[in-house]
Formats: sequence, structure tokens, C-alpha cells
Amino acid sequence: MSSMPQNPFSAVQEPTTESDFLTPIESIEDHEIDTTLRPKKLTEFIGQRQLKENLRIFIDAASSRGEALDHVLLHGNPGLGKTTLAHIIASEIGANIKITSGPSLTRIGDLAAILTNLQKSDVLFIDEIHRLNKSVEEVLYPAMEDHALDVIVGKGPSARTIRLALEPFTLIGATTRMSLLSSPLRDRFGVTHHLEFYTQDDIERIVKRSATILGVSIDADACATISTRARSTPRIANRLLKRVRDFAQVKHDGRVTVTIANLALDALSIDTLGMETIDRVILTTIVETFQGGPVGLGTLAAALSEDEKTIEEIYEPFLLQCGMINRTPRGRVATKRAIAYLESRNKNLSSSRLSLRT
Ligand SMILES: Nc1ncnc2c1ncn2[C@@H]1O[C@H](COP(=O)(O)OP(=O)(O)OP(=O)(O)O)[C@@H](O)[C@H]1O
Ligand SMILES: [Mg+2]
Repeated sequence: MSSMPQNPFSAVQEPTTESDFLTPIESIEDHEIDTTLRPKKLTEFIGQRQLKENLRIFIDAASSRGEALDHVLLHGNPGLGKTTLAHIIASEIGANIKITSGPSLTRIGDLAAILTNLQKSDVLFIDEIHRLNKSVEEVLYPAMEDHALDVIVGKGPSARTIRLALEPFTLIGATTRMSLLSSPLRDRFGVTHHLEFYTQDDIERIVKRSATILGVSIDADACATISTRARSTPRIANRLLKRVRDFAQVKHDGRVTVTIANLALDALSIDTLGMETIDRVILTTIVETFQGGPVGLGTLAAALSEDEKTIEEIYEPFLLQCGMINRTPRGRVATKRAIAYLESRNKNLSSSRLSLRT
């Protein structure tokens, strides 16, 4: 966030330190750890039961027919496992995977080169597929539907289109913004899956698995503590585990106990619900500046000096998921749960300040 407004109505001001620990967006450090911790097989992929069962059937059916798997579209919040699944699908069908992304595929020629180099049943993974430009996207239509590439040869009146045959391949598209995908593109995917936020149990299993891979000894209680604060997102769970591991090494004997986990998470300003400073600022602004709402996204973004997209894509999904806000046609509304949460937090802060003074 660029600047945090001081709320004139709030009796207890929020701490001004901010962390990015709970942002599900991948950082450079995450990228390395993501690769180490990424499950390699469908059976290692935790949670998302229905999605896994369906994929298993589609993969087995396509393999037994000796055909390429139908194109797959994966959508869901950052850090829920879309890239991981794309790699798993490729490895389950024993195919090569070529990886690219919507923003980096700016020229038709680049996509044409990638497509013509694909072998039979290869996987082409396009991350952030909602950010493909229109002319590149249109090249994908015949490629997906007819395994064909239309190339324009010559210029002016003598220009003509020739159609090149492509090997049957599987396109896997990943997006955090399903609504920005054009319907012709969306309709060309045979399989569309939404990745849900993870249950507490699943996140615990993910933390345990990651701790084993990283060689970290962790108590069951500590595992539960980290999981409750991981915002139902595997990437955040892994990130918190790594930070807690640092505290365990420096402040203890390297073993992650519940005391160490609490110490580390408190030091990072992450509360027991997994809410951090920016979440509380959003809620406080809706409740106090806009009397609980409804407040339009643009107005809220202006009050927070924050980008609308960042609020909508990064912060809101978790606040919606844990029942702190509602989206209504007239704008965002804080729920009773949000009000109770802020009240109890302010009470705790006030009493801890009082006890500091006395
Ligand atoms: N179901 C799962 N089981 C175990 N680990 C998981 C699971 N899903 C995700 N992870 C872990 O979370 C990390 C982030 O996952 P991934 O990179 O696939 O997310 P993403 O949906 O592609 O995110 P983005 O939208 O930012 O690209 C991975 O390194 C992986 O270790
Ligand atoms: Mg990804």
C-alpha cells in the first residue's frame, strides 16, 4: 500500500508497521521455495478432492484413447496451486510442458513459433491467460479447435492465408480473473476448474509436508497455529513456515514449538484469524469512515490511497471468504462479524496499553 491513512474516527490507531507476509502474490523468494515444495504427482497434491478426481478421470481416459488431454482452464486466487497443477498434469500424462504467460506473449510470431514446436500431446501452459492481447488470442482459436495455425503469406492484394497443421496438444490456461477472459477463449476449454480456498485440515497437511521436505521439526500444535493464520492459502502457509523456522533457529534450538510459532507470528503482526494490518485498515475504513457501507470500490480505493484492482484481487477475496465483508450491488458492506472483530481488537489493544501505563 502506498500510504496508510490515519483514521480520524478510530480511538485506537493501528500499528504502522506493515508486512507482505500474507499477500498471496508470488515473490522472488517464493518462486524458489515454490519449486522445491511443489508436489510432483496428483496423489501428493493436497485437498481440492473433486478437482483431483475429475482430472484423474480425464487424464486416464485421454491416455487410454491415445489422445491429447482436452484443454484445461484453471482459475482461482493466487497461491492456490494452478501452476503446480499444470506441472502435475504434464507429468501425469508423461508429456513435455512449455511455459509462457499472457503478458510475455506479445507477438503473434512468438506464439506461432511455440505452437509449431509442440510435439504430440505436449502441454502448453499459459499463465495469466486473461492478459493475452487480442491478436495473439485469435491465433489460439484455430490452434485449440482444429490444431491448425493460419499464417498470412505476402502483403497487400496478393496476401493469402495458408493453414499449417499442428500436433494435437493440450493448452492449460491459468487465471486469477476469470471474468476478464473473452467468451470465445473460455468456450474453447473442454475442462474448466475453479480452485477453492483450502480447509484448515488441508493447510495443516501442507505445512506438515513442507516441514518434512525442508527438514524442519515441528510440533502438531505449532502446525495448527501456522495453519489458522495462513489465510487458507498454501503459498502463505509455506511462507509462514519459513519465517517461523527462522525464529526457531535464532530464538530456540531449531524445533518449531507452539510458543515459537506464536512469538514469530505475533512479531509479524499476523493475528489469530490470519488478518494483517491492511485488512484491518480496510475494515476500519468501511466501518468508521463509511458507517459500515455500502461503499463503492472506487470510493474505498480512494480513501485508502490504494489501487482498485489490488483491493479487489488481493485483499477482498479473503475478507469475503471469512465473512468480514459482503459485496452488494451498491458496494462493499462490513458484516456484524467485522464489527465484532474490530471491537474486540480495539478493546484488547486499549487494555494492553492501559496495563502498560499502570
Ligand atoms: N494442493 C497443494 N498441496 C501442496 N502444496 C501446494 C498445493 N497447492 C499449492 N501448493 C504450494 O503452494 C505454492 C504455490 O502454488 P502455485 O504456484 O501453484 O500457485 P498459483 O495458483 O499458480 O499462484 P499464482 O496465481 O500466483 O500463479 C507451491 O509451491 C506449492 O508448494
Ligand atoms: Mg502460478
